[in-house]
Parts: sequence; structure tokens; C-alpha cells
Amino acid sequence: AQRHEVDQVLAPLRLSRADLQRVQALMRQEMELGLGWESNANASVRMLPTYVCGTPNGTERGEFLVLDLGGTNFRVLLVRLAEDGIHMASKIYVIPTTITQGSGEALFDHIIECIMDFQLKHNLTEQVLPLGFTFSFPCQQLGLDKAVLLSWTKGFSASGCVGQDVVQLLQEAAQRKQHLGLKVVAVVNDTVGTMMSCGYEDPKCEIGLIVGTGTNACYMEEMQNVGAVEGEQGRMCINMEWGAFGDNGCLDDIFTDFDRLVDEKTINAGKQRFEKLISGMYLGEIVRHILLALVEKRLLFRGKPCPKLHIKGIFQTKFLSAIETDGLALRQVRAILQDLELQASLEDSVLVREVCQTASLRAAQLCAAGLAAVVEKMRKNRGLAQLAVTVGVDGTLYKMHPCFSQHLQQMLRDLAPNCTVTFLQSEDGSGKGAALVAAVACRGAEPWG
Ligand code: BG6
Ligand code: GLC
Repeated sequence: AQRHEVDQVLAPLRLSRADLQRVQALMRQEMELGLGWESNANASVRMLPTYVCGTPNGTERGEFLVLDLGGTNFRVLLVRLAEDGIHMASKIYVIPTTITQGSGEALFDHIIECIMDFQLKHNLTEQVLPLGFTFSFPCQQLGLDKAVLLSWTKGFSASGCVGQDVVQLLQEAAQRKQHLGLKVVAVVNDTVGTMMSCGYEDPKCEIGLIVGTGTNACYMEEMQNVGAVEGEQGRMCINMEWGAFGDNGCLDDIFTDFDRLVDEKTINAGKQRFEKLISGMYLGEIVRHILLALVEKRLLFRGKPCPKLHIKGIFQTKFLSAIETDGLALRQVRAILQDLELQASLEDSVLVREVCQTASLRAAQLCAAGLAAVVEKMRKNRGLAQLAVTVGVDGTLYKMHPCFSQHLQQMLRDLAPNCTVTFLQSEDGSGKGAALVAAVACRGAEPWG
């Protein structure tokens, strides 16, 4: 009887192949809408032009400063693209929530202070190096070096930034701090940086995927399909901003009560609904709400009240990765739960593990459905019976979770059987990719020629 009740709670999270095929078809539809010539106001997937029109060819050279903002860590990097390869130095700087959710001025002032500290430490104060800015939020780009922030995502909410060009915001902060040597040449999304940095290793890499704090993808689209930019020749990388897929209601029947509870408690309720089913910032929260429901139904912890489990964010996504690790003894699962002041029996531990597996499997499969839409579109674009393509990937969830990547790849093979997709993990973040884009930008007039 208990088994039956547990299954009832988890059933809405278990997606059938038909569900996933429908998600894939919907993603494809939203992609077309987002790309369209007509007003794309109704599209939830924004399909933003990036002005990146090619992948690296190995001739990129130079020395660049790079900022990497929007993932778990904020980084400043020095990247040198040389004959003998790519050399990098980097430093992680902490940005407290009071700043990410404070005023825009304070945020950009803080960034400039970090740059100044980095330049001092690396003896770079006398030089004006071109700067590539990996800025992992939705931006309307008007060129490589002009990016208007459309909305904050992932818990950022600094005031006075939406609707502004982030290059301008950075430059204004530099002026306030009397830092006179800042030359921003390119703004790139982390998906784009990741695609470019993996593209340096593998020329087939024409897709970038992030499954970390947030989730998103970019890919090389035919220029003739990009309504928002003039020109018919060649390809341009499109930052899909697929995290917002479903914000127009098209995924409403996929969302569960747990998803609605998670969404309601965020600072951007109703937004980034697809992201909230998948990425690291939310997966632990989904699990926490399922566990609470199971406790309430007396199916877990013998129904004993668990005050700690009511605290938002207490069940971190990294616990899923730990709990699902193959061969991890249930005693250890119990120990993890004990740290949360949850007194778990062995049966409880088994059930908690099942909940984690259910939530992460759904996330991986949804991600596969999104990616299947992308590779199938690329295959049709190119009139191919079979497409071979590489996806450059980054993000803590993808890299740290024991079976996310396996489930993603398995489902993708099933949903897009005519595509052979290779996954290449980005080893050093998207900083390298931003430098590669900056190098092309510095080459001048016909940058992708
Ligand atoms: C990093 C990239 O490695 O991965 C960032 O350099 C990106 O640009 C990040 O945002 C995504 O992963 P996470 O888990 O840090 O959000
Ligand atoms: C969020 C951002 C997007 C970014 C993704 C992964 O979805 O809006 O720009 O690529 O997170 O970091």
C-alpha cells in the first residue's frame, strides 16, 4: 500500500517517451517563433543573435582580459592565445548576495575593483588589454560589443541594469573608480564561450550547453533563418535562452505542484520555468518539496515533523549528486540526512535516494528533449540524412552529477536517432571562449571572413 502511495506522489515527475517527444516538438516550435521575422513577443525561447559567425580556426592570437560573470563563481582571467596554445591565469572573486541583489552601481563597481586587484597582482596596470566579457544572462546584442540586458536570471536582481548596455555599465563604473584603461571588445554568453572553447579542440563543436546554476544552449543557425539580423550568407550563433521555455504557458501540463511551489518562492516567479525543472539552482528545492509532501503523507521519517526541511535552500543540489553516487552505502546517505537533522531509517534513505533519482532523471530527459530539437533543426537546415555534431558542455550539475550526462545522452539518442552527438566537456570554463571571440573582434572589419 505504501509503495502505491509513493508512486502516486512521484508519478507526475515521471515523463513518458511521448511526453518528451511533445516537449521536443514544442521546443522546436518555440525556436521557430523566436527566430521569426514577425514580432516574436509570444515566443518563450528568445533565440538571441550573438554576432558570433564562426567557430575558432586556430589562428586567433593575442592577450586578453576576461570577466566571467553569472555561474557559481565570478572570475577574472588573463588569457594568452599563442602559437603554442592557450595560456591562462585566473582568480575567483566572491560577489555577496547583497551585491548581486543590490544596486547596479554597486555590482559594477565591485567588478571593477576585482579587475583592479587582478591587474595589480599580475602587473598589468600599465597595459590596456582588450577585454572579453562572459556575461551569462539574456542580452539583446546589437553587435559583439553592445549587449542590452533583457532580464536578470538565477537569483540576480541588481537594480537599474535591465534595459541597459552592460558594456556601458562597466565603463561608467570604471570612470567612477578612475580606472581609465578598460577596452571591452566582446560580450558573450557562457553557452557561446563554452562552444568556442570546445570548438578550439574540435571543429565539429557547433553547440554550447550549460547545465549548472542555470541551463541554456546555443548553436550555429543559418543566417537566412535569423529574422532579427540582415544578411543571408553563412551562419550565426544563436543564444537560445531556453531557460525561459514554457514561460508562455506551453509547458503547463508538465509542471507539477512541486515545480509550482519552487517557482513561487523565487525572486522571478513565472519566469525561467524550464530552467527551474532542470538546473542546479532549483533541483535540490524540487527534492525538498517532494520530501515534505512524503513526510506529510507519513511515508517518510514516520511522519515526524522536520523543521529543517522547511528551510528554503537547505537541500542543496550537491546532495543529489552525493546521494545518487553509485555504490554509496545507504549508511552514508543516512549520514548526509543526519547533517540536515533528519533521522532516517534505512528505508527512509532508500526512498530519499529514489526521490533524488526521479528528479534528476526528469531534468536530464527534459534537457535531452531540448537538445533533440536543436540537433534535428540543424540536420534539417543542412538537408542531411545524418548529422554528426559535437556539443561543448559546462556546468556543475553536468560535471558533478553521477548519472546526469549518461541519462541525457541516452535519451538524446532515442529522441534524435539520425544525429550522432558527441559531448565534449569544457575543461577551463568559458573564459577561453570569450578570449577567442575577443581575438576575432580585434581583427577588425570583416571579422569572420
Ligand atoms: C563555468 C563557466 O565553468 O561554468 C561559466 O566558465 C559558466 O561561464 C559556468 O557560467 C556554468 O556552471 P555553474 O555550475 O558555475 O553555473
Ligand atoms: C540562465 C541565463 C543564461 C545562461 C544560463 C546558464 O539561463 O539566463 O544566459 O546561459 O543561465 O548559465
